[in-house]
Amino acid sequence: MNEIRIGLLGLGTVGAGVVKILDTHGAEMQERTDCRLTLAAIADADLVREREGIDLARLHLVPDARQVLDDPSIQIVIELIGGLEPARTFILRALAAGKHVVTANKALLAHHGAELFEQARRHRVMLGFEAAVAGGIPLLRAVREGLPANRIASVFGIVNGTCNYILSKMTDERLDFSVVLKEAQARGYAEADPALDIEGMDSAHKLQILAMVAFRTSLDLKDIYTEGITGVAHEDVVNAAELGYRIKLLAIAKASDGGLEARVHPTMIPAQSPLAAVSGVYNAVFISGDNVGNLMFYGRGAGQLPTASAVWSDALEIARRVAHGIPALPVELPSVAKAPLPLRPMDEIRSAYYLRVMALDRPGVLAQVAGILGRHDISLVSVLQKARAEGEAVPVVMLTHDARERDMRAALAAIDRLPVVASRTTMIRVEPA
Ligand code: HSE
Repeated sequence: MNEIRIGLLGLGTVGAGVVKILDTHGAEMQERTDCRLTLAAIADADLVREREGIDLARLHLVPDARQVLDDPSIQIVIELIGGLEPARTFILRALAAGKHVVTANKALLAHHGAELFEQARRHRVMLGFEAAVAGGIPLLRAVREGLPANRIASVFGIVNGTCNYILSKMTDERLDFSVVLKEAQARGYAEADPALDIEGMDSAHKLQILAMVAFRTSLDLKDIYTEGITGVAHEDVVNAAELGYRIKLLAIAKASDGGLEARVHPTMIPAQSPLAAVSGVYNAVFISGDNVGNLMFYGRGAGQLPTASAVWSDALEIARRVAHGIPALPVELPSVAKAPLPLRPMDEIRSAYYLRVMALDRPGVLAQVAGILGRHDISLVSVLQKARAEGEAVPVVMLTHDARERDMRAALAAIDRLPVVASRTTMIRVEPA
C-alpha cells in the first residue's frame, strides 16, 4: 500500500478536527483510498496549549511552517492557518514545490484565488477548497462534479453559521445581539476576527468562491454588495416575525439578462420558506440549474468536525489520485468561461423592501412619506404604525412591492430629509425565497 504523507499548517479548531478524524476514521479512510495516510508534521506557533481530545505528545509538532514546506517527503499540505498572510505565501511555496494543497481559507481564495489557481495549474498540482464554503456541506463538489451539464441561474442561501446562530437566537429566544455573539465565539463558529462574520465579509468571501465555480466568472470581492447584521435591531426581528417573516443573512447570486448580480445582506423571507426553518449554525443553499431544476443543500456550515470532514474530502480525493498515479488536470481548477457574465450594479437590482420610518405621530406625516415613495415609482403593500405618541416619533413599518434599488435609495434619502422624520430609516430587502 502506498504511503501518502500529509503536512498540516495550523492546529486551531479545524486543524484539531482534522487530527481527530484521522484518529477515529483513519482505517476506513485508508481502505477507501487504498493508501496509508500519515500525518507527517504539524506546524503551529503554539505547541503548548492543550487541544481537547488530542494527545499532543503523539504528534510530530514543529514550530515553523518551513519544516512542512521544505520536507520533500510531504505530498499534501493542509493549510488551516486562515487569514491572508503568511497563508498565501505558504500555499504558493507548497504548490511551487509540487505539493498538492487543501485549504479552508475562504478569505484568501476570495482575495487571491486567481493567483493560487494559476500557480497550481503551472505546477500541475491540485488545490482543494471544499471546506471554504458552507462548512461540512459538500457544496462545491456538488456544483463542479454534479452539475456541469447545467447553466446555473441562481445560487443563494445562508452561508455564515455565526450570523445565522445570532439571528436565530435573537428571534427565538429574544436575546440581545452581543450575548449571542459571545456564545457563537465560545462554540468555535466565529472567525478569529468575528467582524468578518457579522459585517457580512465571510459570506461575501464564500459567495465569491461559489459564484466563480457556479457561473465560471471572475468576480471581484469589492463588487459584491455586502451588508452585515450589526444594523439589525431587535425591533426589526420582532416586527418581521409579526408580519410573518424571518430575517436571515443571505448571500445571493443570480444570472439574468446576460448579467450577474451578487449581494450579501440581511433579508426578510416568508416564515414558511424552507430557508426560514434553517436555524443555529446550519447553512442552506438553493441552486437552480436549467436542466436539474431546483436543489437545496443543508447542513452544518461551521464547527470543528463538519469543516474537518470537508477538508478530508479533498485530502482523500487527492491522496487516492496521487497513490494511484492519476494526474491532476488543469481543467479541474476553477476557470473563467469564454463569455463571462458581466456584473450588474447594485443600483439595478429589484427587490421588495421593509422600511421602519421613525416619524412624528401627527396628521399628514404618512401622506408625505407615501408621496415620496410614489414619486419614486415605489408602491406600498402594507403600512403599520407600531405605537401612538402624539407629537413624538413612532415606528411606522412599511412593506413595498418590487422596486428598483436606485429608486429606493433616492426615496430614502428624501424621506430622511423630512423634518417629521426623527432618525435614519431602517431598510431591509424582502425576498420571496
Ligand atoms: N465563521 C464561519 C461561520 C465559519 O460562522 O460560518 C465557517 O466558515
